[in-house]
Amino acid sequence: MGVGSLNIAILTCSDTRSLAEDTAGAALAATCVENGWIVIDHRVVPDDQDAIVIALESLADDAHTDIVLTCGGTGFSARDVTPEATATVCDRMAPGIAEAMRIGSLEVTRRAMLSRATAGLRGTTLIVNLPGSRKAATECFGFIVDQMEHAHDMVVGGGH
Ligand code: MTE
Repeated sequence: MGVGSLNIAILTCSDTRSLAEDTAGAALAATCVENGWIVIDHRVVPDDQDAIVIALESLADDAHTDIVLTCGGTGFSARDVTPEATATVCDRMAPGIAEAMRIGSLEVTRRAMLSRATAGLRGTTLIVNLPGSRKAATECFGFIVDQMEHAHDMVVGGGH
């Protein structure tokens, strides 16, 4: 039996974007609501590894959070450090999630191979990196969204 609903936190990593300007995060939130899930937090932090780590720890360690979706900071520029921050806070990595996003995205754009996105578990919270543009973020989330409830069920002990 699936849990049915999920509590989602969205963490956008950007040096330039305010919460009001975060159309990518807003689009991810809309997709979550369409799936019947609850968006319990939505923040923007700069592309700074320490700031991202602190935000991820705070969001993931909140007992209400099932999944943290990060948005942005997965490319090759010097300030793109979201995957490193994610790896720092996770106990166990879940590489298949980002692999699925890249496989699906390569059908859309060859630039998908430039994503360094990762995913992993911190305790019972799943953290998933998504790219920063509204288009890329929603496309990538679309390739994995159907597995989020089952992923959470397994994490909290439901098995298959
Ligand atoms: N994936 C999809 N589905 N669609 C896209 O347009 N853009 C790529 C890639 N993944 C893209 C995509 C590009 S151009 C980059 S640089 C990386 O995601 C990382 O994006 P980020 O730095 O905004 O996180």
